[in-house]
Amino acid sequence: KAASKVIGPNLTACHPSYGRPDLLVYCCPAGFETPGPFVDFQFPDPKSPLRVRRPAHLLDENYIAKYNKALSIMKSLPYDDPRNFVRQANLHCLFCTGAYEQQNSDTPLNIHRTWLFFPWHRMMIYFHERIIGSLVGDDTFALPVWTWDIPEGMMIPDFYVNRSLTFFHSERDFSHFPPQMADLNYVSDRNLSPEDQLDTNLAFMYSQMVSGARKTELFMGCTYKANEGYCNAPGTVESAPHNTLHTWIGSNLNPGREDMGKFYSAAKDPIFYAHHSNIDRLWEVWREIHNHQLDIKDPDWLDSFCLFYDENLKLVKIKVRDVLDITKLGYSYEEVDRPWLEKRP
Ligand code: C2O
Repeated sequence: KAASKVIGPNLTACHPSYGRPDLLVYCCPAGFETPGPFVDFQFPDPKSPLRVRRPAHLLDENYIAKYNKALSIMKSLPYDDPRNFVRQANLHCLFCTGAYEQQNSDTPLNIHRTWLFFPWHRMMIYFHERIIGSLVGDDTFALPVWTWDIPEGMMIPDFYVNRSLTFFHSERDFSHFPPQMADLNYVSDRNLSPEDQLDTNLAFMYSQMVSGARKTELFMGCTYKANEGYCNAPGTVESAPHNTLHTWIGSNLNPGREDMGKFYSAAKDPIFYAHHSNIDRLWEVWREIHNHQLDIKDPDWLDSFCLFYDENLKLVKIKVRDVLDITKLGYSYEEVDRPWLEKRP
């Protein structure tokens, strides 16, 4: 039997890491580096209500008020509580800058630009969503989805640019606030008319979701295994719109277009979570387009794992195989049109 090459972090040794080539950052949970015991992941009770993630532009005042309240509670929790907003944001920093080594190895763990991209972010926002819900006592709470791939969703959703709400964030490019349309393949501003930007975006979605993603590795990213080095080849959607929208949101006044523009700082912007719900939804759409025939079956991927604190402050070890059925995870996506499916360039 071949030795297992599953990837997982060694949480006992957190260290400073490069947030961009010229910037050493420290996102370890200072004072709490040594984690206590963990439990294995368990699915939520199948009788608990389904959390339905809805497009952000359709959410009503009650929802926004509730989420706003939860986020302010999260921001006010003490730093020693892993549900604290900065601690949540730093999870992304930790696993995206190589602040932890892999188990039994001195190679840093890095979840971007590999096949861990989709499952790792699913895990992160799964726990985040349940923590948010528990802070306001709502076990139906579901994250909003920034559906930037449909015409109605191509601007930053309104509540994220409302200065009186916790979703507002100053480290952004203000010239990209509504009514500016998102450029899903953003490199620099190209000043297209709204109609041209819309068409360009839909055609681009077609190539990233369909024509450019007909093989597993093209969509999922490269095979990343323990003791084989970092593979560094992202899937289509991870490269763009995922990376490009990070850049598009981040502030033009910061050297790395922080906060969203760099992974060490990205999750400090509340829009990160709505952006990633859409990424997570599009993973499901791609799987559905291929009737799950292109799903990865490699046990090294299925058994790769990470650890997160849950809403009850328990440290949970969760494997990629645990996050492949979202119904079992207790959430779903409201049906969203796929206008780009017809947009073969
Ligand atoms: Cu880990 Cu949107 O990035």
